Amino acid sequence: MNIILFGLPGSGKGTQAYKISDKFELEHISTGDLLRNEIKKNTDIGKKVKSIIDSGKLIPDELINEIINSDYNKDLNYIFDGYPRTLEQSNFFDEYLATQGKKIDIVIFLELETKVVFNRLLGRRKCPNCGENFNVYYNPPKNNPFCDICGTKLETRKDDKEDTIQKRMEVYEFETKPLLNYYSEKNVLVKVDASKSEKEVFETLLKIVSKKLNKVKDGTY
Ligand code: AP5
Ligand code: MG
Repeated sequence: MNIILFGLPGSGKGTQAYKISDKFELEHISTGDLLRNEIKKNTDIGKKVKSIIDSGKLIPDELINEIINSDYNKDLNYIFDGYPRTLEQSNFFDEYLATQGKKIDIVIFLELETKVVFNRLLGRRKCPNCGENFNVYYNPPKNNPFCDICGTKLETRKDDKEDTIQKRMEVYEFETKPLLNYYSEKNVLVKVDASKSEKEVFETLLKIVSKKLNKVKDGTY
């Protein structure tokens, strides 16, 4: 089973992918998290991608496709968050999955208006110690700017600055949004209203994913 969570920066891909992967024991691949991890460890890849990520542009397709190629295991079930996000990546991924006897089962589009995204991203905070997530507007820490769980000072993502968010929106519009047509024509696209609360969005996703998994289990898919 290969599920893709698709949507604007800040639409809730990461938030929901963590919960869904936990609930259904799916492998969660977030290309953004993988790249940030490389930067943190100061690896060759990290050095190569740091300035690109900080500027809000996309990493070259070949590098991202290579990461997917080396991480993917056809015997596991996945939820992808932030991949594919160019037509080049989606073509590569379809062809690659076909060589593994697999395909994309469902693409869930977390639909959200652009104006909501700014608050979500400007308010996002993460604890560098325990990994807990907060949002100063929607889920504020009790003692801002410190983590409720371990008391460590919370961090803001470097690309969550107003001008970089603006750039990420433009990149989404021109390079990523065209994938909606691509997946719609393949009949795998499902739209979800991502303006609802985290809990409501999660409940909707639960229904969609369990229905798909049951169909796979009872062979009607
Ligand atoms: P990536 O890390 O994928 O970032 P993104 O797509 O810009 O998306 P975000 O992670 O910012 O948002 P999200 O949708 O996960 O929202 P979240 O759940 O956190 O990519 C970063 C960079 O890496 C790219 O710019 C590019 O340079 C590079 N990259 C990555 N993948 C690549 C690829 N495939 N090809 C090329 N380059 C690539 O939610 C946001 C906030 O809102 C949180 O604070 C959350 O608590 C809050 N929130 C979530 N849901 C709700 C809700 N329902 N109500 C209220 N608040 C909510
Ligand atoms: Mg994310």
